[in-house]
Amino acid sequence: MTMKTVTKSMHQIAALGTDPGLLNYVQRILADRFHVSVFTAPGELTARLQEPGRTDLLLMDWQSGNGNGCEDALTRLAGIRAIKPTLPVVLFARSVDLKEVLQAARLGATDVILKPFVKSDVDHAVEQHLGNGGLNFAAGDDQVQEIPLDEDTTFVLSSRRMRELEAQCRLVARTDIPVLILGESGTGKEVATLFIHKMSARSNRGFLKVNCAAMPADLLESELFGYEQGAFTGAVKSKPGKFELCNGGTIFLDEIGEMPAALQAKLLQVLQDGTFARLGGRFTLRVNVRVIAATNLDIKEAIAQKKFREDLYYRLNGFTLKMPPLRERSEEIPVFAHYFMRKVAAKHGSMPLHFSPMLMQALCNHPWPGNLRELENIIKRYFILGDEQAIVGDLRPAQYAGPSNSGGVDTAYVPGLKRLVKSIKGDAESVAIAQALEGTGWNRKAAANQLQISYKALLYKIKQYNLNPVERQQRPSVM
Ligand SMILES: Nc1ncnc2c1ncn2[C@@H]1O[C@H](COP(=O)(O)OP(=O)(O)OP(=O)(O)O)[C@@H](O)[C@H]1O
Ligand SMILES: [Mg+2]
Repeated sequence: MTMKTVTKSMHQIAALGTDPGLLNYVQRILADRFHVSVFTAPGELTARLQEPGRTDLLLMDWQSGNGNGCEDALTRLAGIRAIKPTLPVVLFARSVDLKEVLQAARLGATDVILKPFVKSDVDHAVEQHLGNGGLNFAAGDDQVQEIPLDEDTTFVLSSRRMRELEAQCRLVARTDIPVLILGESGTGKEVATLFIHKMSARSNRGFLKVNCAAMPADLLESELFGYEQGAFTGAVKSKPGKFELCNGGTIFLDEIGEMPAALQAKLLQVLQDGTFARLGGRFTLRVNVRVIAATNLDIKEAIAQKKFREDLYYRLNGFTLKMPPLRERSEEIPVFAHYFMRKVAAKHGSMPLHFSPMLMQALCNHPWPGNLRELENIIKRYFILGDEQAIVGDLRPAQYAGPSNSGGVDTAYVPGLKRLVKSIKGDAESVAIAQALEGTGWNRKAAANQLQISYKALLYKIKQYNLNPVERQQRPSVM
């Protein structure tokens, strides 16, 4: 007979519910490793939560009690969040009722265990949210998490806003509803999409991305839905589209706000019943694809201007995630600066460069209009140049810095000549880009080719210089 020694962790788990059977069971399966306290009266739990540092995780029975159980539970969850904004809260729920899961996600539930459950379900959830059996978990707002998603992508999060967003992603990953991710350019919409896919039951099926702004309507239609032989000149043999290729998986429709109007109806159809026809095809095909869409446009504005179908918006918007801009989670800047530095250094097989307090201060004070993408580029530049003065010079004076005593960028760091050169360079660049865009009738792909920059870089520059088509400025759209 082998004897297993179990070390009890110091972690305190609270369990709330009205079903004594469930509470007893939970206590029994966790009591060898954790301190578990059960509560049948929400008031007692509230009192406990108000004691500093006494609870590391809450397990809560969601549909407990009578028919009003869910509503009560929602109110209770909101109350708990008010006291303990970052406490991991795992719910026991009878079914994946979409509405409930989404409401719970909005209120910041961390995870759901479906009833009936077994010991390993609880162990798994507790381990996940307490971290490695609870032994390495250091609760606190400054905890950095790095979740590997694929060879190139890691989901890094260290702020409270991002942990709330992570919890929402985990919950929504359990459903199949479409998700709309809003956020400025470079805020991590694609990373969040990949995270949802990885956390979902579809994680071992395909994940495909389509950039809806990158090509004209007919090309995008064949890309998404495929075509039959002879559908158009050059269609020598039939080809499946991404929706077919991605059956069972997740499709990421990036820049959805730019999807040509003609295609929006066809997309709406797939979202409604999973059916579509290939270009030139006579048969209706049916697929099971989860759609996640993202945009950095103001989609409500696009609807008001009749550029985006309202019905499509409501279909896509099963759940909306808003990626906060970096300036609203500036506590993450040092974390990301080190992370991007480690990443670029590892890629080149070198040691990461050091950040002096002056450089770090300049990084923290910069408003980051291009968000994490801009930060990553600056860090790469620092790695290549190795010249922190040059980087400090590159960073514009803070526009979003708080009151002056909170410390804006000291403009003495930014030599006058450098700034002058930078602004002249910026002017010349924006004129060249505007000319290329006008010259190609605002075909961004063609303009990017002409300018020999990537499509994404062009989108970023358009935003950076706030460029708009000349025609649109003169003649308001009447669509
Ligand atoms: N939470 C994160 N953890 C790690 N890396 C991140 C995170 N958020 C963003 N990044 C990195 O920052 C860059 C921009 O992220 P991403 O492409 O997801 O942004 P986006 O919102 O899709 O931008 P765009 O609107 O320009 O397409 C990428 O290199 C990505 O790997
Ligand atoms: Mg993107």
